[in-house]
Amino acid sequence: MSTISLVVNGQPKKLDVKPGESLLDALRERCGVTSVKDGCQPQGQCGCCLAIIDGVAKTTCAVAAEKCDGKQILTLEGVSAKEREQTAQAFVAAAGLQCGFCIPGFALRAKHLLDKNPSPSRAEIATAVDGNLCRCTGYVKIIDAIELLAKVRRGEPMPALPTTGGVGSSLPRFEGLATVLGDRPYVADLTRPGLLHGVVVLSQHPRAKVKGIDVSKAKALPGVRAVATAADVPGKRWYGILYSDWPGFVAPGEEVRCVGDVLAAVAADDEATARAAAALVSVDYEVLEPVLDPEQSIAPGAPTVNPTHDNVLGRSLIERGDVEAALKASAHTVSATFQTQRIEHLFLEPECTLAEPIPGGVKLYTQGQGIFDDRRQVASFLGLPEEQVQVELVPNGGAFGGKEDMSVQSQAALLCLLSKRPVRLKLNRDESVRLHPKRHPIRMDYTVGCDAKGRLTAVKARMIGDSGAYASVGGKVLERAAGHSCGPYKVPHVRVEAVAAYTNNPPCGAMRGFGANQASFAIEGCMDLLAKKVGLDAWEMRDRNILAVGDVFCTGQILEKSVGIRKTLEAVKGAFYEAKKAGKAVGIGCGVKNSGIGNGVPEWGKCRLVVEKDGTVTLYNGYTEMGQGLLTILQQFASQVTGVPATKFIPRVDSTFALGCGQTTGSRATLFSGRAVVEAAKGLKADLDQGARLSDLVGKVYAGDVLIQDTTALGAKVDKIKTHTAYGWATQVCILDQDGKIERMIAAHDVGRVVNPAQCSGQVEGSVHMGLGYALTEELPTENGFPVTSKLRDIGVLRARDMPAVEVLLVEDHEPEGPYGAKGVGEIGLVPTAGAVAGALEAFDGVRRYTLPMKDSPAAKAMTVGKLKGDRSKWR
Ligand code: FES
Ligand code: FES
Repeated sequence: MSTISLVVNGQPKKLDVKPGESLLDALRERCGVTSVKDGCQPQGQCGCCLAIIDGVAKTTCAVAAEKCDGKQILTLEGVSAKEREQTAQAFVAAAGLQCGFCIPGFALRAKHLLDKNPSPSRAEIATAVDGNLCRCTGYVKIIDAIELLAKVRRGEPMPALPTTGGVGSSLPRFEGLATVLGDRPYVADLTRPGLLHGVVVLSQHPRAKVKGIDVSKAKALPGVRAVATAADVPGKRWYGILYSDWPGFVAPGEEVRCVGDVLAAVAADDEATARAAAALVSVDYEVLEPVLDPEQSIAPGAPTVNPTHDNVLGRSLIERGDVEAALKASAHTVSATFQTQRIEHLFLEPECTLAEPIPGGVKLYTQGQGIFDDRRQVASFLGLPEEQVQVELVPNGGAFGGKEDMSVQSQAALLCLLSKRPVRLKLNRDESVRLHPKRHPIRMDYTVGCDAKGRLTAVKARMIGDSGAYASVGGKVLERAAGHSCGPYKVPHVRVEAVAAYTNNPPCGAMRGFGANQASFAIEGCMDLLAKKVGLDAWEMRDRNILAVGDVFCTGQILEKSVGIRKTLEAVKGAFYEAKKAGKAVGIGCGVKNSGIGNGVPEWGKCRLVVEKDGTVTLYNGYTEMGQGLLTILQQFASQVTGVPATKFIPRVDSTFALGCGQTTGSRATLFSGRAVVEAAKGLKADLDQGARLSDLVGKVYAGDVLIQDTTALGAKVDKIKTHTAYGWATQVCILDQDGKIERMIAAHDVGRVVNPAQCSGQVEGSVHMGLGYALTEELPTENGFPVTSKLRDIGVLRARDMPAVEVLLVEDHEPEGPYGAKGVGEIGLVPTAGAVAGALEAFDGVRRYTLPMKDSPAAKAMTVGKLKGDRSKWR
């Protein structure tokens, strides 16, 4: 322990710091500074923890606190009130934030840049923010925000932020101003008197029999308040969204099934003590040969990975027409095998839960994508009635599907019950990468035929995906891959089989696109290959085959409405041919993505509006805000119906009302929750129309419950197949420069109705960013069941300097089942991207690429990230 003196935001501080303690931890835990966030400590690669130290912008997670004696530290909290206001307003006015977790780092970086260079170019801004990572925005609007801030600092006026706004207005993001400044807390920012810090002990092997767990040394460490193992679980130890195949703790006598398995959890007075205690937990393993390949997993004789199920987690089959005969009669056929990679969500906020005691139970502050699923599973785990587990969503710092499954909610809750104190359990980046499900690597064998004019005749495909050790929603991902295997094209004869296999790799589950991205890469590749054989260009080939109202979708559903794919294809036509004429290498990809889970699952939207004494209306809904902007557009729907200013509606997501409608998944929250809000708002509107004022209605509750249950399961033998409520459609064009680097992306999207133009285009920009990483640089291979890295730059998420120009074209094809014609846009933005990039690369160098990421390409080599080195040794 050493004592340092430093000045934090103008305040002199004397701190006793431990050897190895980071400046980030000292600022957060000792000085109450929350604008610095922990996204990757100690890597120093995300920029969320940025501070200005003696005038130099530095990541504080990579700086030892003991080296900061005599230093002057500036964070956003210490910036002048005027600058804070300007900065927050500029980011919000430019819609330069989504989940917001990264934004305080960008905001401080902007200040540091503009203090030195008051009029930076966009390229200079992109270079200046290279140390800051954003997983949500694609940087386009962040750079817009910094440009706007520069103008305002030079004396130009700040555009006024609207406070009213119905459908179609760019209402500022709910809680946006506080989020920019780091004042809106995430779970890890919450604190309580007597707070304990939790840590989990993870498996050291992908497959091993646990012979014993000795926690005696951990328990004996001073400062440790509780240690939990399987023996302490009072209820059902196994849980899962669809199947209960995932234990909160693996017990002695059982096998660990992946390196993210939890064996014990510790709560202590501080995190360092908890980590020291966790290191003292001794586990006796009998190491077993892991099952690492999905084909080997489903071969006869393979060891069973998960005791609750055989190794075939799911098998989906679509059969329409006579594929073999149609292929035989086709003028042209192509056959190819496509392989996609495992992808890490890399949401910037690692998983964290705060659990605090309440009479007879526990209250959870969660960042999960389905807070009522969290409640159900935690209550079962603790052996409590659900009413004794209260849950409140703290809007999270990104999720993208990776927070659908439980992460540390149950362990935090149990430690809270055992210690009778509040416990905050946060994963570090290494643990996060090991623990949560990933995007599936899928191998896809395709044969596709067409007639002499290029009209598709048949698609035959077999897909196998590595689902890892736990079911999560892996079977459904492969089901969705099968359902989207023909892309947005008319195909009369289809035979597709998709298998999800258990392995001892980290689990794979939901990630933005949910199987559609993988299938799109394959079918778009086949479209390009066939186009060449027929003698058509890539645009013409799509033009001949895209779906229209009245056509049959891959799953057998006859499309009755809102099929906007032609509008999107027409929207990019001019740019596609202009670029070709200019001699550029151009690629095109079309995409489709379901909006709503469908496939026979009943789906709810639920809302309650409660009029409050202060003149606001609390808007309760059951779906999660994770950066996509749901809470803001729900304000807009409520305002549109009632005429009450949008900012009078204050969204909340908690268990005050029974609004359990499942996960925010399948691009459905806009559709289902939007409709529920509209229903509830109609009740309020009716009272207002009767002459009541809000002050007359205090305490009144207006309910909106919407149930859609007319979808049909894949393969169901029914008269009318309707696998999904709605679909989003898109066409994207990729244009390369003379060096094969991506110069420009054009993304045309049918969103039904644009509810919030700024947020909507931001969703697409962010998706294209994620799609380009998917195409070119991102991967998370495993070696012997271990992810080979947790380093952000290795994982390959693009930096601002890597991003090409993105032009978003929003088109509207009214969705009659959606609120005001809207449908989901959260996922489809990256569905066609990899296919468009692959087409452009082939146009550039003549090489057709079948494997993602396309790292051998000039476009990938031009990126600053994705030079995977691997650091597996440090897991051990
Ligand atoms: S937390 Fe410091 S750079 Fe990521
Ligand atoms: S807004 Fe940047 S990580 Fe979410």
